Amino acid sequence: MGPDSCKNKIALITGSSRGIGAAIAKKFALSGADIVLNYRKAGGSSQAQAEKLRDEITTMGRRVLLIQADIASYESVKGLFREIQEKFSRLDYLILNAAKAPFKPIERLLERELRSLVEVNYLGNIFCIKESLPMLEQSGGKIVFISSLGSRFYNPAYPLGSMKSAMESVVRDCSETLSEKGISVNAVCGGIVKTDSFKVLRQYWEEIDLLPNDLFVEPDEIADVVLFLCGHASRGIRGQTIVVDRGLGNSLSHTRKK
Ligand SMILES: NC(=O)c1ccc[n+]([C@@H]2O[C@H](COP(=O)([O-])OP(=O)(O)OC[C@H]3O[C@@H](n4cnc5c(N)ncnc54)[C@H](OP(=O)(O)O)[C@@H]3O)[C@@H](O)[C@H]2O)c1
Repeated sequence: MGPDSCKNKIALITGSSRGIGAAIAKKFALSGADIVLNYRKAGGSSQAQAEKLRDEITTMGRRVLLIQADIASYESVKGLFREIQEKFSRLDYLILNAAKAPFKPIERLLERELRSLVEVNYLGNIFCIKESLPMLEQSGGKIVFISSLGSRFYNPAYPLGSMKSAMESVVRDCSETLSEKGISVNAVCGGIVKTDSFKVLRQYWEEIDLLPNDLFVEPDEIADVVLFLCGHASRGIRGQTIVVDRGLGNSLSHTRKK
């Protein structure tokens, strides 16, 4: 896709203050889209990073809307989409990237941690899908969910994997139900990416340091496939999850210890 392939289009990337979401936002901006950045925590380093990214994308000549919203709250999500409607009056791409979960076995999660796991990583994405529909239906828009290998491989410290599996099913189901509105829905399942959340995962998964460096995925490699799924060349792909893991998933069974 060329530098103007997303000209006059609007992309919302949830959780785009840093990491993979920030890389996706930059990728769409470089392709000509105007961008809605979103983050959760006001007043901290996340907001500062989001503001820096806003300035960077503005310098590229794109319009940027920076919206603090917690996707786990339906009221907050409604406010997010209301603001997009008011300021941009359209939405072409909804990239469901925001995620947060504690790193410990699922049976050790406290009740509030379990509720938050489901509220952020399942309900939050569905709130966003529901509220995006009027604008996506008008634009014949695209939804891309960011999944991870936890959707298909066991990791004791990764309860988020169960939500990723559930969301991959939601992607398949919504692809069917929303196709009559002209909305396409797909997902990208990323391998391991060295973002802030990786630093925490590393503390609970010692073997990760044994992996050769070329098995780690760059945020930009995920962003490229997200952009592809929003373009004309992917029009035949519906309800699929495309794995971008540099082949890590092909050999994961070798890492199991007795
Ligand atoms: N890193 C990996 O190895 C990897 C691999 C495959 C897939 N993924 C997936 O890729 C996505 C991004 O991962 P990452 O590693 O880049 O994450 P990250 O560095 O932890 O950044 C997460 C982003 O999501 C935002 N966020 C968290 N909870 C939110 C909420 N309730 N509402 C709105 N925004 C929220 C954060 O904002 P605040 O800082 O303000 O909370 C931040 O902007 C996730 O879906 C993750 O599961 C990651």
